[in-house]
Amino acid sequence: MKTLIAGNWKMHGQQAWTVKAAGFDRLLEATDREHIEVLICPPYPFIREMFVASAARHIKIGAQNCHAIEKGAHTGEVSAEMLADCGAEYVIVGHSERRAAGERDSDVSAKASAAFRAGLTPIICVGETLEQREAGNANNVVEAQIIGSVPDSAENFVVAYEPVWAIGTGKVAEISDIKSMHAHIRGLVGDNVRILYGGSVKPGNAAAILGTENVNGALIGGASLNMADLSAIARSAPKN
Ligand code: 13P
Repeated sequence: MKTLIAGNWKMHGQQAWTVKAAGFDRLLEATDREHIEVLICPPYPFIREMFVASAARHIKIGAQNCHAIEKGAHTGEVSAEMLADCGAEYVIVGHSERRAAGERDSDVSAKASAAFRAGLTPIICVGETLEQREAGNANNVVEAQIIGSVPDSAENFVVAYEPVWAIGTGKVAEISDIKSMHAHIRGLVGDNVRILYGGSVKPGNAAAILGTENVNGALIGGASLNMADLSAIARSAPKN
């Protein structure tokens, strides 16, 4: 199982950034990368250009969301099929920033099914708020999100555990908490699913996080905007 180093650019970037992504793609040529898979999920308008520019194909391209339906009168939406047509291989679904805007487990499950239909791999995000953690409910919340968001009979998917309070705050979960939550998720999804950790992953903490049992990669926000940081995180992945 390759460690997945996934960058989520969120609503950052501009067309010119595709050049730095392409530079990173070429840089990986000289990097020991048998044990890693590197992915960048830029905003929709940059997906095709990033795919074309990353000609060495050492980085894969993904999206941050998709619509559940293939086509129709849904102004402003983008289908999983369109993303696949533009070169995307992955799509993030159910990110906490979208759940906070009203996305429910059933929506996330429908989007994950759309990803399968289009031949994309969904990265299904789950994670508790600080309030839920402090009330001792973190495991139950994440378990309910997984049960509700992973479609029945789903096989080729990735789970990203992102504690909401660790996203963009510089606060990283304790390694012991990551280990315990990832073991819990492992029990729910089985041995063949990669489980990523996300929340303030940086070059300085990546080795410890990626070296934790049942952590099969990272979903990186802020640090993925800087190719040197993303590259440092990729290099800190353990060679199993
Ligand atoms: P940060 O790495 O900026 O905390 O963001 C994490 C995240 O939300 C990735 O999806």
